[in-house]
Amino acid sequence: MNELKHIAIIMDGNGRWAKKQGLIRSFGHKAGANNVENILKCCLEFNVKNLSLFAFSTENWQRPKNEVDFIFSLFDDYLSKYKEKFKNEGVCFKVFGDITKLNQKLQNNILEFSEYTKNENKINFNLAINYGAKDELVRTFKKIQEKNLQINEENITKNLDISTDVDLLIRTGDCTRISNFMLWQCAYAQIHFTKTLFPDFSSLELEQIINDFLNTKRTFGGV
Ligand code: FPP
Repeated sequence: MNELKHIAIIMDGNGRWAKKQGLIRSFGHKAGANNVENILKCCLEFNVKNLSLFAFSTENWQRPKNEVDFIFSLFDDYLSKYKEKFKNEGVCFKVFGDITKLNQKLQNNILEFSEYTKNENKINFNLAINYGAKDELVRTFKKIQEKNLQINEENITKNLDISTDVDLLIRTGDCTRISNFMLWQCAYAQIHFTKTLFPDFSSLELEQIINDFLNTKRTFGGV
């Protein structure tokens, strides 16, 4: 059986989910944010040590201002709602991406939350905000240059926002694209695309995907 240390999810389809029910797109984002708890619980049950979620990309700033503002209000709410819960349940929280572009209050809350849960070790819950894999690689190469290190695979991996390779990448919402998410870390990831829109993506479906992953032979370029 394969080891499953890291699941990454591109949470797509919130807008279409809302539209299907005659609601504005923001309701879809709210429903998506509410669904994250089910996904996290399922990962805890399977003893997956890392879960990385794509919440806001470096390209998502192009969306209408009211939608961007709403998504950021969800981040604020999320941080206040889950701080104690995560601590109690052994969840180590981290935001990755270029957080220097976020408002100062959100940056402070993110850092406080991460500090508060940094010793928790059941699962690393990584939320990508203002994240793009190309941007991450550029920031990584700059760090390597500043530290006067050699450019090699080990130093690149160590200096990324998230150093752990992704084993299983899932994209909901019926699109077969990777959209600039964790390109380095996904070098050997199994990829699963589902038509399910993220707010409807259930722990039952995730369980099935995990079981398929566990029973798939991975060769990493060998035989
Ligand atoms: C993609 O769906 C989704 C996003 C760009 C935002 C994802 C944000 C959340 C799930 C909420 C925040 C999460 C937390 C944990 C606070 P889309 O809008 O592109 O959907 P569409 O393709 O149907 O338009």
